Amino acid sequence: MEIKTIYDRIGGDESIRKIVDTFYPKVYENEELSPLFEGDIDEIKRKQWMFLTQLTGGGALYSDEFGPPNMRVRHMPFEITPVRAQAWLKLMHETLTETGLIETEGGKALFERLSQIAPIMINRQ
Ligand code: HEM
Repeated sequence: MEIKTIYDRIGGDESIRKIVDTFYPKVYENEELSPLFEGDIDEIKRKQWMFLTQLTGGGALYSDEFGPPNMRVRHMPFEITPVRAQAWLKLMHETLTETGLIETEGGKALFERLSQIAPIMINRQ
């Protein structure tokens, strides 16, 4: 039996790109999150595009360039509080809603996965 990846179930690269393009403008406008994002929006979008591709089973783009994801460790320099993790997830939910993906089985599975990962990034109370 063939089991399709989340990547295929949400519609592959086109959907990953839509998510990233919709999500980051929200982040850079959010008062909880924007102070953390001082880097180049194009580079952070490119990294998230690679990472989400990898997370959903579309290929190891992120690890091929940057090595093991270790996302908790990579987020350590940034103060991620429970409030900020919640804000991040809320914007991701808005993103999946606006792109129509939350209504799909694959979109729901992706949001569930991200809901599990976001709390792991909390590194300050
Ligand atoms: C929980 C709340 C989160 C906050 C506040 C947060 C914040 C940040 C910040 C400030 C950066 C660095 C941006 C820059 O370079 O200017 C970053 C990088 C990144 N974040 Fe998050 N993040 C969160 C959750 C997540 C989650 C759940 C994922 C995975 C789906 C993720 C994936 C990434 C990736 C792939 C990078 C790039 C890492 C690199 O430098 O290679 N983040 N994040």
